[in-house]
This record gives sequence, structure tokens and C-alpha cells, in this order.
Amino acid sequence: MHGVKRGILISFEGVEGSGKTTQAKALVDWLALHKIPNVFVRDPGSTEIGEKIRDILLDRKNRGMHAKCELLLFLAARSQLAYEIMLPALMDKKIVVTDRFSDSTYAYQCYARGLPLRLVTIFNRFAAAGLKPDITFLVDVDAAKRRERGKFTDRMETEAEDYHQKVQHGFLLMARRAKKRYIVLDGKKSIDELHRDVVHHIKEILTRKGYKI
Ligand code: TMP
Repeated sequence: MHGVKRGILISFEGVEGSGKTTQAKALVDWLALHKIPNVFVRDPGSTEIGEKIRDILLDRKNRGMHAKCELLLFLAARSQLAYEIMLPALMDKKIVVTDRFSDSTYAYQCYARGLPLRLVTIFNRFAAAGLKPDITFLVDVDAAKRRERGKFTDRMETEAEDYHQKVQHGFLLMARRAKKRYIVLDGKKSIDELHRDVVHHIKEILTRKGYKI
């Protein structure tokens, strides 16, 4: 790790059932195999406090949750995750792989729920300790494929189809606007093919950042 200044933050994004979690975990296994120090987290969650907030957010009994309450809970969980796990790991030059991060807030709470993007961006920057992914993989799947894959039961997953389409549209818009950071993966490909694509990109970024593979 000669010459590495700080770790790398890698996020995986996509609608529910896109296969992003499978890909994030496969990448973590690959990093471990190559003895590259890494940490895997999920947002919301991964800290004791964050997991409790996650339960509140996903509980179907909380159907009456206001969009602003929902936003602030996601940000609260992210804040704990950023300060408790991500920042120390990055300072320690580890690769942090996160299953979702700030872009999920923009896609779900802004593009789908309609909360104001500019304000949420400011709140998010405050909550996430200014952390921004160095690279974001978006697993792009169409609605039909998503339905095929998942058994959707929690409060967010059981939202109307139209809501999920707005989320998907939001992700694609962000990917177009941040071409340097985003890598859009074709969700129609098999798990193995997608993993090969991820590894191809990761090797390139690790080399660029001074890691030895
Ligand atoms: P998942 O990561 O297991 O798919 O579950 C997290 C759920 O929370 C998912 O429905 C997306 C949603 N979510 C938001 O609405 N906003 C956010 O900022 C994040 C991180 C997740």
C-alpha cells in the first residue's frame, strides 16, 4: 500500500432486487482474497444505533411516517455509520464498500418522495461528515426483472410501482450527471459477469490510487 494516502469509498446503488448486495459482497470477498484491507457496511445500518434506526425505517407498522421524519432517520443512521466506522476505516487506508449511501437518499427521498434536493444535499453533507464515494456502481435493472427477483415485504419495498420507477429514474439521472464517479452495470447480466465487470473497474482504480494488487 505504498503511497496510499487514505482508503477508498466504494458504494453500490440500485433499486431493491437489483442484485447490488450480492455484487458488493462479492467485491469484498475478492478484496479479502487479494489481502487488501477492507470493511463492508450497509446503509442504513452496520452500527448498533444504525441497525435500530433501520428497523424503525423498514417496519411496516410505521406506514404513517412523514417524509421529513424518514429523511432525518436515514441521515441519523448515516451519521453514526460515517463517524463510527467509515471515517476511521478510511483514515486507516482501508477500502470501504458500502451497500447504499447518500445517492439512495437523493433517489428515494428527493426524486421519488419529492423533498428538495438542494436542502437535502446540505443536510446530507453535514450528516455524512462530508464523505462522498470515490466510485459508485449502479446496478441497472428494469422493473420486470426486479419483480422476478424479489420478495418485497418491508415498508419501503411495498411502495407503489410508480415510486420505484421514480427511484430508478433518479439513479440514472445522477449517473449521467456524475459520469466520472458512476459505473452503470447492466443488471441483465449474470452474477458472475457482473462481478467480472466490477473487478475490472476496481483493479484500475486501485492501481491509480497506489495499491499493489
Ligand atoms: P436495502 O438496502 O436492503 O435495499 O434497504 C434499504 C431500504 O431503504 C431500501 O428500500 C432503500 C431505502 N433507502 C432510502 O429510502 N433512503 C436512503 O437514504 C437509504 C440509504 C435507503
